[in-house]
Amino acid sequence: TSPVIHIDPARTISHVDPRIYSGFTEHMGRCIYGGIYEPGEIPTPSQIPNTGFRKDVLDALRELNVPIFRYPGGNFVSSYRWQDGIGPKHLRPRRPELAWLTEESNQFGTDEFMQFCKEMNAEPYICLNMGTGTLEDALAWLEYCNSSANTHYANLRRSNGHPEPYNVKYWSLGNEVWGPWQVGQMESQDYAKKAFQWAKAMKLLDPKIELISCGETGCTDWDRVTLKKLVPVVDYHSIHIYTVSEGNHTVNVMGPAAAEKAIEISKSLIDLAKIEAGMEKQVTVCFDEWNVWDPVRAPGEKGAEEHYDLSDALAVAAWLNVFVRKADIVKIACIAQSVNVISPIITSPKGLFKQTTFYPLKLFATLMQGTSLNVHVASPVYTGKTVPDWVGKLENKTGGEDKLTKYIDVSAVLSDSKDEVRMAIVNRHATEAYAVPIRFGPACECDNGMVKVYEVWSADLKDNNGWDGERVKTVEKDIEWTGEYEVKEHSFQCRFYP
Ligand code: AHR
Repeated sequence: TSPVIHIDPARTISHVDPRIYSGFTEHMGRCIYGGIYEPGEIPTPSQIPNTGFRKDVLDALRELNVPIFRYPGGNFVSSYRWQDGIGPKHLRPRRPELAWLTEESNQFGTDEFMQFCKEMNAEPYICLNMGTGTLEDALAWLEYCNSSANTHYANLRRSNGHPEPYNVKYWSLGNEVWGPWQVGQMESQDYAKKAFQWAKAMKLLDPKIELISCGETGCTDWDRVTLKKLVPVVDYHSIHIYTVSEGNHTVNVMGPAAAEKAIEISKSLIDLAKIEAGMEKQVTVCFDEWNVWDPVRAPGEKGAEEHYDLSDALAVAAWLNVFVRKADIVKIACIAQSVNVISPIITSPKGLFKQTTFYPLKLFATLMQGTSLNVHVASPVYTGKTVPDWVGKLENKTGGEDKLTKYIDVSAVLSDSKDEVRMAIVNRHATEAYAVPIRFGPACECDNGMVKVYEVWSADLKDNNGWDGERVKTVEKDIEWTGEYEVKEHSFQCRFYP
């Protein structure tokens, strides 16, 4: 099949929620310490005075327009005592840390995270400890963050120098509670019953909060069972999926296709739970951990510092295409993670560099906003596996239509001003370039003039960025529109049609 893209701005899917470009900062590896927070060590001007925050990291994250940061884990949260991380720093206890088998100094905690979010003009999202934590701890944390009453934890916040409540809107009911690696792992029924009680109590204390249930990949029995019980009391269902490369470009960039299938199944499970509960309320997907992560290449216990290449940048672009296409159901997505740990930014005490994945992420967060459009793509297809053998179970469940995955992968938006169609096109083929006709429907007059293109490409798929320079980044071009566009092999581009 020769590639052709058909696009009609009248065929809208849903508004693209800017929260799909959210981030995640876990106490893991060098994400917090040495990432966003490095007090005392950094010579000015890279440090923001009296905060411990790295100015270079905050500036780089600002380029990504991150609307929400999830915190403090991930796996870390399942044995985290939030009260260790508040108050005078010299009194904060050092504790053994059971997720990544390190030590936690607690020099960065809730108030520092809130200050970080304020600096970033982003909303905080807190994940609750449903491992070693109790409902009482969770309620105390909520009271500390959100209450303006004359009560103990609200007053404790005030006495720590924070008179105004933080009004944290997003709270999730545990992290990957289904996982054998989790402190406090539970069976689905047990989790569902417990989370239901926690949800009721949390909403009694603050009815304005929005709650997120702990899902698995969106398409498992855990998801079905927990949604059935929790749909009446939650606002979002969380999904986590990482795709891996195993050094194989095709597997790497085709992996997100499995996530797209998982989202569709999750949407149906939400619908089913709503029908069974006889409820009309809105429950959507919060895809609060996603990315390319090869735990063999970058083990979690060693800080998961992936060094991404062009192939990974294309995979990230394919991931983001999925979220734009699924704008009707995915309302929040958090790339895991934001700094150093499986991240688009790598720091050292002296500075930072932007990984290959930074560039598609920035293009999406700045350009792919508006209303998602239904795009029809004819394309040559890849027929091999889309996930490595060790997650083959997922592929069997979510591999898509006969495991056919299109090499040309596209999402599109109509800008909020309604005067621009913007397309994100990934050519996932390692060696083939294509001349792709783009046919617009009658509602679009995008047929002549100059077109702006932002291209991420490099000659070698293994090209990466590092301390010696950035080989993979965005190149901006103005091209004359002829009705057809030459898409380079293994490339990503964002294009505008005024
Ligand atoms: O993001 C890294 C880890 O991956 C998180 O801590 C955990 O939730 C997931 O397994």
